[in-house]
Amino acid sequence: MRLIIFGPPGAGKGTQAGLLETRHGITQISTGDILRDAMAQETDLGKKAKSYIDAGELVPDALVRDLSEQAIADEGHDDFVLDGYPRTDQQAEWLTAFLESNDTPLDAVLSMEVPDDVLVRRLSRRRVHEETGETYHLDHDPPPDDVDADLIVQRSDDEPETIQNRLDVYREETEPLAAYYEERGLLVSVDGTGEIEEVFGRVEAALGALDR
Ligand code: AP5
Repeated sequence: MRLIIFGPPGAGKGTQAGLLETRHGITQISTGDILRDAMAQETDLGKKAKSYIDAGELVPDALVRDLSEQAIADEGHDDFVLDGYPRTDQQAEWLTAFLESNDTPLDAVLSMEVPDDVLVRRLSRRRVHEETGETYHLDHDPPPDDVDADLIVQRSDDEPETIQNRLDVYREETEPLAAYYEERGLLVSVDGTGEIEEVFGRVEAALGALDR
């Protein structure tokens, strides 16, 4: 299947895409993860992306286009779920053209619907392991006791002011893409509230109901 998982910061895109990968073999392609890896390795891309990510702004379109298209090509143009791409009109147009040129259209765009107060709570309680990148959540998935607490940090863009900016940027730049995909008959809304497994059940049901 060729999928996009779509929604605001904290909607659970990464969590649900990860489950699609481990349980259904649909590879998660996360532009956020690719950019954070590049930042950790201090590559040219990482150095260029850092100031945007730390401020909760979008990285310029041109910087994410190639890495997304390359990741899709690496998967043989099939069985992928894009997590965090596209986020602008320009990125959506590029993606449509890229997929059409390979005759590999999308099957669906899963839109995760979660109210803002829940998003903020999820993001402000997220923690990451500085070295491994492992993600934890103080409420439902705290770091185990044998993990060095000094290595558990907050993501640079999960500070309260930056979370608010990410939400504002999402509303301005990314949310309008829902209409773009709805017009193409691809948008499937999924209630993203509740327990992770409950949400995943809805994701599976939505995909199972696709008549494609
Ligand atoms: P990215 O890493 O993609 O961040 P994001 O879209 O803001 O998404 P998040 O990872 O914060 O949230 P999510 O929806 O994946 O939720 P998650 O599953 O992690 O991008 C970071 C930055 O990179 C961007 O701001 C931008 O600068 C840049 N960038 C990336 N792509 C770009 C692009 N295409 N163009 C330009 N710039 C780009 O869950 C969040 C937390 O909630 C976790 O702790 C999780 O455990 C918890 N949680 C999840 N589901 C539940 C649940 N059901 N119940 C309780 N807790 C839950």
